[in-house]
Amino acid sequence: MLRLPGLIDPHVHVREPGQIHKEDWDTATQAALAGGVTMILAMPNTKPPIFDASTLDLALDAARQKARCDYAQFVGAGPDNAGLLPALASRAAGLKMYLDSTFGELRLDHMTLWMPHFENYPKQHPIVLHSESRTMAAGILFATIYDRPVHIAHISLREEVLLIKAAKERGIKVTCEVCPHHLFLSKDDIPAISSGHPGRGEVRPRLGTKEDVDSLWENMDVIDCFATDHAPHSIEEKDSDNPPPGFPGLETLLPLLLTAVNLRRLTLDDVIQKSVINPRKIFRLPEQPETWVEVDESAEYEVRAADQFTRCGWTPFEGWKVKGKVRKVVLRGTTAFEDGKILAEPGYGKNIRIT
Ligand code: DOR
Ligand code: ZN
Repeated sequence: MLRLPGLIDPHVHVREPGQIHKEDWDTATQAALAGGVTMILAMPNTKPPIFDASTLDLALDAARQKARCDYAQFVGAGPDNAGLLPALASRAAGLKMYLDSTFGELRLDHMTLWMPHFENYPKQHPIVLHSESRTMAAGILFATIYDRPVHIAHISLREEVLLIKAAKERGIKVTCEVCPHHLFLSKDDIPAISSGHPGRGEVRPRLGTKEDVDSLWENMDVIDCFATDHAPHSIEEKDSDNPPPGFPGLETLLPLLLTAVNLRRLTLDDVIQKSVINPRKIFRLPEQPETWVEVDESAEYEVRAADQFTRCGWTPFEGWKVKGKVRKVVLRGTTAFEDGKILAEPGYGKNIRIT
């Protein structure tokens, strides 16, 4: 049995408030625990989006009652809320800025809308950018001009990882995360994922080419964090005529990473650095005392949506053979998951921004 620290996933779409038919604080945190994740940072593109004090309260109230693992909630940058967000910063995981279009209403089309957020949001609190390709380059320029760190969400392209490498070499304060689906899947896998349902292959950023994927692996030292971008949508929605983008990922993150460790594509130290140590540092998260994950390294099994706790009912990794099974999760001294059963009660999870 291998013992790991509890994983931190800095990028999760919990869907509550507003879209609990996809997921809620209960099922998202069950999925987290089943995946060996003991702390999640929740994204603000809910319905309504989390963009002021009352919407933040809405999310945090639901989380307080339902969350089974530890958490914090991001606030979202909108066209006219830059003035009121600093007052919320100490209660938030950080500020999320959607600079490219994706699921939900939060989007800042013009760079003039980025400026007040970079000016006002307190510098010691993290800013995370959804910014793809050249938009990412613009985001890094903002980090330089305003002299503050930025964290780039879900990088997927060769040009992105190479630009971040160059920026880091010049001392620019930029960090980044990569999602398992951008490491383990490419465009070529879309037919297999979709099997007649093209919506299942939809995700933002889109899956990259083989060259993009190879480049992420080759530049693993540039990548600070693994993050799932767990983005559950129901199977009916994914298979509809207007499929929303997004893949669930909380329950496949660690098995996929451990399988890569087994194949010597990663080291166990990479997993711990990028799923625990670095996210803790970048997002200034507290240590979780008496918290660990026990994994049976030699257990091989097939990924099946039917075995998952997420409400969405599907996974792009259906049928994948993985090696490394989460057997037990202990969170702050209490067994929270064991042998396929969730033991932590709703409400056991702590908002780590409340001290
Ligand atoms: O595919 C995605 N789905 N990318 C995002 O950036 C948002 C997410 C969602 O919320 O569904
Ligand atoms: Zn996301």
